Amino acid sequence: MAKVVSSLLCLISLSIALLVFSTNAVDANGSSSPVFVCDPGRFSKLGLQMSSFLFCDSSLPYSIRVKDLVSRMTLDEKVQQLGDFAHGVPRLGLPQYEWWSEALHGVSNVGPGTHFDDVVPGATSFPTVILTTASFNESLWKKIGRAVSTEARAMYNLGRGGLTYWSPNINVARDPRWGRITETPGEDPFVVGRYAVNYVRGLQDVEGHENATDLNSRPLKVSSCCKHYAAYDVDNWKGVDRYHFDARVTEQDMEETFLRPFEMCVKEGDASSVMCSYNRVNGIPSCADPKLLNQTVRGEWDLHGYIVADCDSIQVMVDNHKFLSDSKEDAVAQTLKAGLDLDCGQYYTNFTGNAVQQGKVKETDIDKSLKYLYTVLMRLGFFDGSPQYVSLGKQDICSDENIELAAEAAREGIVLLKNDQNTLPLNSAKVKTVAVVGPHANATVAMIGNYAGIPCRYMSPIAGFSGYANVTYKTGCDDVACKSNNSIFAASEAAKTTDATIILAGLDLSVEAESLDREDLWLPGYQTQLINQVAEVAKGPVILVIMSAGGVDIAFAETNTNIKAILWAGYPGEEGGRAIADVVFGKFNPGGRLPITWYNGDYVQMLPLTSMPLRPIDSLGYPGRTYKFYNGPTLYPFGYGLSYTQFKYNLLSFTKTIHVNLNKLQHCRNLNYTSDASKTRCPGVLVNDLRCDDYFEFKVDVQNVGSTDGSDVVIVYSKPPAEIAATYIKQVIGFQRVFVRAGRNKRIKFVFNACKSLNIVDYAANTLLPAGEHTIFIGNGGVSFPIHLNFNY
Ligand SMILES: *[C@@H]1O[C@H](CO)[C@@H](O)[C@H](O)[C@H]1NC(C)=O
Ligand SMILES: *[C@@H]1O[C@H](CO)[C@@H](O)[C@H](O)[C@H]1NC(C)=O
Ligand SMILES: *[C@@H]1O[C@H](CO)[C@@H](O)[C@H](O)[C@H]1NC(C)=O
Ligand SMILES: *[C@@H]1O[C@H](CO)[C@@H](O)[C@H](O)[C@H]1NC(C)=O
Ligand SMILES: *[C@@H]1O[C@H](CO)[C@@H](O)[C@H](O)[C@H]1NC(C)=O
Ligand SMILES: *[C@@H]1O[C@H](CO)[C@@H](O)[C@H](O)[C@H]1NC(C)=O
Ligand SMILES: *[C@@H]1O[C@H](CO)[C@@H](O)[C@H](O)[C@H]1NC(C)=O
Ligand SMILES: *[C@@H]1O[C@H](CO)[C@@H](O)[C@H](O)[C@H]1NC(C)=O
Ligand SMILES: *[C@@H]1O[C@H](CO)[C@@H](O)[C@H](O)[C@H]1NC(C)=O
Repeated sequence: MAKVVSSLLCLISLSIALLVFSTNAVDANGSSSPVFVCDPGRFSKLGLQMSSFLFCDSSLPYSIRVKDLVSRMTLDEKVQQLGDFAHGVPRLGLPQYEWWSEALHGVSNVGPGTHFDDVVPGATSFPTVILTTASFNESLWKKIGRAVSTEARAMYNLGRGGLTYWSPNINVARDPRWGRITETPGEDPFVVGRYAVNYVRGLQDVEGHENATDLNSRPLKVSSCCKHYAAYDVDNWKGVDRYHFDARVTEQDMEETFLRPFEMCVKEGDASSVMCSYNRVNGIPSCADPKLLNQTVRGEWDLHGYIVADCDSIQVMVDNHKFLSDSKEDAVAQTLKAGLDLDCGQYYTNFTGNAVQQGKVKETDIDKSLKYLYTVLMRLGFFDGSPQYVSLGKQDICSDENIELAAEAAREGIVLLKNDQNTLPLNSAKVKTVAVVGPHANATVAMIGNYAGIPCRYMSPIAGFSGYANVTYKTGCDDVACKSNNSIFAASEAAKTTDATIILAGLDLSVEAESLDREDLWLPGYQTQLINQVAEVAKGPVILVIMSAGGVDIAFAETNTNIKAILWAGYPGEEGGRAIADVVFGKFNPGGRLPITWYNGDYVQMLPLTSMPLRPIDSLGYPGRTYKFYNGPTLYPFGYGLSYTQFKYNLLSFTKTIHVNLNKLQHCRNLNYTSDASKTRCPGVLVNDLRCDDYFEFKVDVQNVGSTDGSDVVIVYSKPPAEIAATYIKQVIGFQRVFVRAGRNKRIKFVFNACKSLNIVDYAANTLLPAGEHTIFIGNGGVSFPIHLNFNY
């Protein structure tokens, strides 16, 4: 999102959006009755006879109603509905609609469909997605989605928000330098996919209708969108930007890594929209690729919804990619035919009419897209109203409950990276004074990251720590860039006198952001010097808190014995300072786990951001990427995180063998083995050929053997048979966050489908279930068991 052109567009559309929503009657008490299209009173005010419009007959199925609506429109009218700002058709009583709203981690005002003012001054701003993901708590992810959609619906009722939200961002964080890691659920495709499914269901699902049989008429609370499809994870790096970048991706990586979260988002989350990205994939702009859009999302995954272009992507195709030397008409014709339904921008509205006249695309291709679009609006109650949500209003936005959920999400996500001599938690009976120093000591806006709105309020770190001790505040640096060491002295002096010192350091949007990738993994400017100098002279224990999305090489702090403890706090949202203080003073025992690998600084010298393959490239000396393919040294591995207590796993029972019976139509496939000696007669079978009704399971006792209550995240990995060449090292197949009281056990059970959890993708992008001895690992420690899988035929 967000090209220069669209910011301009934004302003134009914003004033129009006000017009659209001014049809909502908002009374002095801040409650309102949102107007819906097929309101008889509305039609009579417009001087139209509603009963003559079949599309308003709520006794008919949506498919018939949208067909009626679309067939009433002239070509020119149809074309006017294909941009994010849909003009409406006054003669049919069809109002304008702004499709572009955002709700990545709270209702945002980035899209022109949503805005804040005196009526709605702010909305709850949850931690950015990378920190919320670190909680590894699926019910939390869904609960946040529900809270956000409730606030969004309330804002819609008040004429301040839309119904269609272009969130979440579910691109896999392939490289630590990427500027948009903060928006994503990390580097593991399965975890990213599970985040997507939960957040989308939280946003979209209407209680009681989760499993409706006709998914094309399943009601929606708000509509969400999985983006940016596909292989999008280079923003602007050493002169290569996303508007020109051609991601060269093997079919194997596409299947195994880049597409999986999108497939889960569409198939399991039943998302009602997918957004295609700016970049090209193997030469073809993703918004113009019929294989990616029509064939995969629409065909194979059976999307119930619409496909939208990232803002001005079609223009980018013409002006930047110069794809096929397209004219504007060529470009809109190609994207329509590829399956792109809605243009965030003005290319469709301006050039599709001519494209039809020039015979480059058929009017029926437009009709098809409009039907998808209006079906989504019908499911949202835009035509018939949403009685179950009309009572939502101001009292539902920034409610105490939602603000507390924002704090809870930050507490659950925060990761304890180091805790020498159990320095944490600090004891507030002994620690009466704290020096709170560093560029993020008084962080506010930095805590809400990008795609934010206006938060209800901010609880900065100094505000949070003031609830526990007397705070002496010194910045130590003017800002995150920390270009001068002039303020270090004052921070050191403060640390000399207080019972403990908290240093808040790290990054912000001036370092890692949309359109801004990093070139290194170091702390900026004099931050390292600040930390070391303060730690050198501090009277009490020194606690380092890092705010960042991507990993930072803080090996110097990990090894510095003057720094007793380190926490990673992502960008913790509007309540972040309170959450950090709650963790430091032990009101909350941290249980978050890193959703990305924290590499050493030299990692990024070994390979360019723009090299897409996940596997190592030996000929170029490139190491692999993510924990699935990189087995070199790391600062902190994926899944890492400590607690104030200790957990042990006691494996109770587990599946030892899986026999898959094959019929005559299920054929064995060859696989690349490391040695011929290990060849079996049936190395593997295509997952698509199998019935996939084989399951395996285990039970484990999670024992809290320490003296503090706490939560553990049990992450389960599978590792394919060792003799298979060039596959992943291991992969996450499941996880559960469990709370266990000190000295107690919690018994948990995992059940896995063999096809889903043990498959590999071969060099030709076939997904296969391989025979042989698979290994299941529980956590990053030593507990594991083998499963022998063989085919009987
Ligand atoms: C606003 O609330 C007050 C008190 O509840 C009520 O008397 C008044 O009628 C309400 N105003 C409107 C316009 O609904
Ligand atoms: C996970 O999140 C839910 C919803 O917020 C919460 O009730 C639960 O306590 C969390 N689980 C753990 C183990 O922290
Ligand atoms: C919908 O189906 C899912 C799984 O198929 C199930 O877990 C969930 O409980 C169902 N929800 C309702 C409301 O029936
Ligand atoms: C889109 O896919 C469907 C099958 O899923 C196919 O019938 C149709 O021809 C495709 N359209 C284009 C333009 O490729
Ligand atoms: C589309 O048309 C409008 C009205 O003529 C014009 O203002 C706008 O610049 C055009 N946009 C593009 C991208 O061509
Ligand atoms: C902290 O930041 C806020 C917002 O920028 C500012 O209003 C406040 O004065 C700052 N607090 C201190 C102690 O400087
Ligand atoms: C902070 O200092 C004031 C006096 O300067 C004292 O009254 C108060 O109790 C102190 N608060 C804490 C939490 O130590
Ligand atoms: C600031 O940095 C300069 C250059 O690195 C150094 O000479 C100077 O001693 C530093 N000052 C302080 C107060 O650390
Ligand atoms: C083994 O991998 C190579 C590419 O590295 C490929 O050419 C060959 O066909 C593969 N064989 C099998 C059976 O997968």
